[in-house]
Parts: sequence; structure tokens; C-alpha cells
Amino acid sequence: MLSREENEELCRVGPGTLMGDLLRQYWIPFLPSRELPEPDFRPIKVRLLGEDLIAFRDTEGRVGLLDENCPHRGANLFWARNEECGLRCVYHGWKFDVNGTCVDMPNEPEESDFKYKVKAVAYPVRELNGALWTYMGPQATPPPFPPFEVNTLPAEHVAPPHIMLEECNWVQGLEGDIDSSHIDWVHARLNQQKSAQPYVMGTFNKDKRPKLEVLTTDYGGVYSASRQWDESGTRWHRITQYLLPFHTMIAAGAPDAVHLRSWVPIDDEHHMLFSQQARLDRPITPEERAQANNPFKPLGGYVPQDPANPLTRYLSVPRLANSYNIDLDLQKKELVFGVPFVGNLQDRAMTEAMGPIYKRWKEHLGSTDAMVIFVRRRLLGAAHNLRESGAVPGNVHDPSINRVRPASILLPPSESWSDATMQSRLADAGAPIAWVPMIQ
Ligand code: FES
Ligand SMILES: [Fe+2]
Repeated sequence: MLSREENEELCRVGPGTLMGDLLRQYWIPFLPSRELPEPDFRPIKVRLLGEDLIAFRDTEGRVGLLDENCPHRGANLFWARNEECGLRCVYHGWKFDVNGTCVDMPNEPEESDFKYKVKAVAYPVRELNGALWTYMGPQATPPPFPPFEVNTLPAEHVAPPHIMLEECNWVQGLEGDIDSSHIDWVHARLNQQKSAQPYVMGTFNKDKRPKLEVLTTDYGGVYSASRQWDESGTRWHRITQYLLPFHTMIAAGAPDAVHLRSWVPIDDEHHMLFSQQARLDRPITPEERAQANNPFKPLGGYVPQDPANPLTRYLSVPRLANSYNIDLDLQKKELVFGVPFVGNLQDRAMTEAMGPIYKRWKEHLGSTDAMVIFVRRRLLGAAHNLRESGAVPGNVHDPSINRVRPASILLPPSESWSDATMQSRLADAGAPIAWVPMIQ
């Protein structure tokens, strides 16, 4: 439970807010490269951390991210002309390059040096393996770019970002990913018998009382949720990483697969799950690429995108407004929850329907919420430290400590999961990924 004041501090992301300041210390993935498919493609609207911005790809292929209001008299650069390495505002013709430098001011006297004094707000952008990242913070020189495995593997081993817009605050989405207990309910089947229908799948664990153990790390934290696996007392540990400020690596997926899941705030009441998957052993197949580009295809895909409204980008057809097209017959006969296990749709239904910003002062947390409690405290602690002393978490200046992996492992009851997975949780230790399938 949090007080109303703590809840506000945790959730709000705009400029000058406590959490907004912490988030702005980090590089943030904000758009897949595919949204700007070619040089001089039309500018597109982006909302990020509550700021309205315009992204564009210039004639040389570089990507710019500018405040949407032209620094002259505020016209919207969404309608700007993307021409010869810059955006030209259509109101009076001022032109800006990807760095925000004013490169032309055609309505002022030729001899005027005014253009050298005007700069558009521009955030630096890095493009890597199909994803665009930006740094919106106060430092003139951004911190080192984070070498997550999805950023350092060869491009052909990394799938395009798989994205889901969520119509609620980002902390709700993040908390869902570090809450292992829900896999026995919202993702579960009612019967041991597997369904004959496609996309009707789910977990079926006998032990639905996971024991959680949380460890603090320099980059955030890691926890195990363990369940009894068999009569001999063997325990199944699902070990999930949390990396400040909003990344997770959950114990799921497949052997030889690594991933990064980022719960990116769009504004206080919207965020996106920006998920990147990669294979260590082979290139991504064309089928896997197609699936990542349109993960909700079996359920109707995404709603048509309105380029003037970033809140329509990556909004799936099943959504809060239509109760996710829930199938109550399916809920009666096969699944705990009658929304299919496609992408994170079941999770999203749970977190969106809590309300746009969940009121954490009304809740009652139990032992299986230990990681949720930890992550809130970690975020609020880091944000207060920054505000009070200017100190930032270790993974801002040394993002190499983010090179970790989740794990899933069967162990005798007496064995320590943290010792047993010490090597497999490090991306560079040369150990195989510790993996047990979640869906049996
Ligand atoms: S408002 Fe953009 S050039 Fe005048
Ligand atoms: Fe889930």
C-alpha cells in the first residue's frame, strides 16, 4: 500500500516530476524503426513521458526527435516539410535539422544572425536493431548507451520490437510483469486436458502458492517465485530480473532466446510494452518477424493508426472499450479468464481495468506481492536520492551491469536458487540459459 502522495510520486512522469526526473536519466526505447521507413518520410507524432514530440528521418537517414511546437511561434511541426536534411515549418519557413539547429530562417533579413540564436528542443536518438532510443535528460553528453543483449547481438538475430499500447499508467504494466502469482490464475486453463482450439492455452500448476524471495542488485533487483514441482519436494524457481527504471526480463520464452521488456510511459495514463526478443543460436525467421510486427493478428490486429494521434499506435483491436472481446463460453469451459493468451492481452486487461492511475492506497498486499513492494520502493528510493543528492543508480553511468538474464530452474528444496543460477544469470559468463517451460 502507498499513500496518495507516494502514489503520485511513483506514477507521474512529466517534466519536473519526481519520477519524471529519474526516468530522464536513462536512454528510452520509443519507436520501432519501421515507423520511419525511408529518408524524408512524413514526420510522425510521438508522445513520451508526457511530452508531445515529432520524429522524422532526414535525407541521410538520421532520425530527429523535436518538440512539436516550432520555436518561432509554436506551429505544429507535424505538418512540416521534411526536406533536404531538415524539417521546414510550413507557417513561416524556418527549418531545423535533427539536432534542433536552425539551418534556415527565410523570412528574416539576409544579414540577420537571429537564426544562430534559435534552437528547437531536440533529443538525441540512437537507432539499433530495429528500435529507436532517445535520451531526454539534462546532460549535454548523454550517459553510455545500454548494451542489453538485444542491442549487441547481430541485427539478424533480433526480432523487430513487439509493441502493445496500454491505456493505463506505466507502473501498473510493470508491476504485472514482476507478479509471478498471477500465472496460476489469469493465464491458467481450467482443465489438465489441453484445448483443441488454437490460442486457447494456459498454465496448469498444482502449487498455486509461490514463495517469493527478492534480492537487491546494483541495476534494480531479481526475485525467485518458487512452487513445488513434484512429490519429492523439487521446487520450480521462476527468476525474473527488474532493471531500473522500467525494464524486465521474465522467466519465460525458450532456450537460446533472450529478451528485454520495457514499460515505456507515454504519459501519465498511457504506456507501451516495448518488447524485444533475440536468438543466441540463429537468425530470426521471417515468420517470427511477421509475428513481432503484428502479434495480435489472430485477434484482429491493431486498430487503424491515426498519424495525428499517437494514442492509436499499437492499440490492439481487443481492448478495454470492447472488454477485450471476452468469450464467456471459453471462460466457463476452458480458461480461467475468457480472453486468449495472446501477447500480454490477459495481463493488460487486468492492469488497464484497475483505472488509468491505480489507487494504491486502497489495496491489501500479501506475501506474493513481495516483488511489487520491492520495485515500488526501489523506484521511489532512487527518485528521492536523485532529488535530494543528485545521485543516480549504478546502471545510468555503467549500463554494462544490465547484461543479465532471467532463469527458470528445478532445484532440490535445500538448494539456493541464487547460488545455482549465479552464472546463468550473467549474459557474459558463458553459461547456458537456465530454462524450464512455463506451459506444460
Ligand atoms: S511558427 Fe514555425 S516558422 Fe513560424
Ligand atoms: Fe502475465
